[in-house]
Amino acid sequence: MQRASVAPRDRLIVALDLPAIAAAEAMIETLGDSVNFYKIGYQLAYAGGLPLAKQLASRGKKVFLDLKMHDIGNTVARGVESVANLGATFLTVHAYPQTMKAAVEARAGSGLKILAVTVLTSYDDGDLHAAGYRLNVADLVEARARQAQEFGVDGIVSSPEEAAALRKIVGHQMNLVTPGIRPAGSATDDQKRIMTPARAISAGADYLVVGRPVMEAGDPKAAAEAIQGEIARALS
Ligand code: C5P
Repeated sequence: MQRASVAPRDRLIVALDLPAIAAAEAMIETLGDSVNFYKIGYQLAYAGGLPLAKQLASRGKKVFLDLKMHDIGNTVARGVESVANLGATFLTVHAYPQTMKAAVEARAGSGLKILAVTVLTSYDDGDLHAAGYRLNVADLVEARARQAQEFGVDGIVSSPEEAAALRKIVGHQMNLVTPGIRPAGSATDDQKRIMTPARAISAGADYLVVGRPVMEAGDPKAAAEAIQGEIARALS
């Protein structure tokens, strides 16, 4: 089971939510050997972040490309192949059946793992109805999590509050990756449904995505190491 096989240090994914490569490289330099896993999302990906992802992977770091792909199956498959060639470890896709099926098939034979985004956490029932859905958020999350498992998707991104319920649905074969993490005493920023690192791990999360509590800390390296220590204690 993956819980035992991943070191606590490698369960912290630092979100490089920065506008430019120079700032990202400075942060990576500051964090040094303490952080092994980075998330690159829209902001940095469209500002030179993809060559940076390739460079990080070639230096032995793990990269989560949060690109939330969704398109016709063939286009998704070709995109996933390109991401696999960069050496990325995680890639997000929206949890639509055709998209998940294409992504899982296209990542075969590579080291890339596909993570499904079930329902964006900024959506409530009213947003779903406005978009033409009849299901509420909880039911759609559950239905999509089940489909993700059926299609062989490697993991799910969820709020830490959903982790325990999702774990019951998908069992222990899928990775649960949770943002919305705030160490006790740190600013909540715009996050509403937050958990401490220890509580998220206890709720069943495998990987924690943390941005501002590390990057805006006076000492980012110490902040990252404190979170890794909390993860280790929660797992012991
Ligand atoms: O700075 P903070 O720790 O809040 O950053 C969390 C990261 O996780 C950001 O990159 C954010 O976009 C991402 N994320 C999130 N909530 C989601 C999905 C992704 O906060 N539901």
